[in-house]
Amino acid sequence: MREALEELQRKAAGEAASAKSIEEFLAIRTRYLGRKGLLTDALRRLKDVPPEERPALGKLSNDIKESISKQLDQALEDIQSREKYDALNEEGIDVTLPGRTRRYGKLHPVTQVDNEICTIFSSLGFSIVRGPEVELDYYNFEALNIPKDHPARDMHDTFYVEDTIVLRTHTSPVQIRTMEKQRPPVRILSPGKVYRPDSDISHTPMFHQVEGLLVDKGVTFGDLKGVLTYFLQEVFGKDTKLRFRPSFFPFTEPSAEVDIQCVMCGGSGCRVCGQSGWIEILGSGMVDPEVFKVVGYDPEEISGFAFGLGVERIAMLKYGISDIRLFFENDRRFLEQF
Ligand code: FA5
Ligand code: MG
Repeated sequence: MREALEELQRKAAGEAASAKSIEEFLAIRTRYLGRKGLLTDALRRLKDVPPEERPALGKLSNDIKESISKQLDQALEDIQSREKYDALNEEGIDVTLPGRTRRYGKLHPVTQVDNEICTIFSSLGFSIVRGPEVELDYYNFEALNIPKDHPARDMHDTFYVEDTIVLRTHTSPVQIRTMEKQRPPVRILSPGKVYRPDSDISHTPMFHQVEGLLVDKGVTFGDLKGVLTYFLQEVFGKDTKLRFRPSFFPFTEPSAEVDIQCVMCGGSGCRVCGQSGWIEILGSGMVDPEVFKVVGYDPEEISGFAFGLGVERIAMLKYGISDIRLFFENDRRFLEQF
């Protein structure tokens, strides 16, 4: 009986250690510890041994039962951890697969050109200032020598907010706001949005301008021409064809507009340049003495020049874009090209 029990323990230990799956483990447990199992059977046969041997054999049987139980518990733990490991191995990550690419946002082409303009003028010592888009009639017109009912108001169709408040039609009001606060010398650049009820392939109701103003002793039209020529050649290259054309603004005298040869047709005339071969990109001139008087500067002592650039127009010419409205349709196929 004792030998039979010890033999049983050895076999159970061997089988438990070699069990490979939960199914095999369950079969082994049933075979030894189940209701009709080998050990249960052995315990039942205890009643057939002589009474004096029973206590010792009974204790041995219980010890063996406990040790088989422990070995089976250990076997189950081993099987489970092996199965988990195999499962993880199978699901493993293939680090050689190509990753998911991220889509990066980009600056809008108008913002890019705006930044480029600011960088060039900053390098010439201009500092950047900003003004409000909802503006008083006074700053947008009156202080710029455009009184009410003056025919020059027809140059800008205007969005009125109230009788005396407009969406600014240009960035020139920032000239007045700056000079009111500051004594000469002045050297500022003011980028921002402006508004006019206008819409065709070269006009949109909202567009961007950059205003420049330089005031000091002895500033001449030659300075204006030199600074603007330098700037335009930085943006478009040294071989760019540009022309200064006499013009009129109530707040400058003399005045000039600058055109760049149309890149769409190379100057022969097309829809974009209105058959002229040229595209107007800025207005400029020597600050009118009337404007200096409004802000309390003495036109006998100082002089200055000012200019206003159309940012979208510059971007159109730079990138060969034939319709200004493309900038504001937010078509990603268009925007992703820049
Ligand atoms: C002005 O707005 C003057 N304030 C410029 C100026 C400043 C002159 C300082 C003298 C001294 P103008 O209306 O021409 O000028 O507009 C200036 C530029 O803005 C134009 O040359 C053009 O490039 C651009 N522009 C005008 N209207 C539109 C529009 N609807 N859409 C897009 N660009 C426009
Ligand atoms: Mg103009």
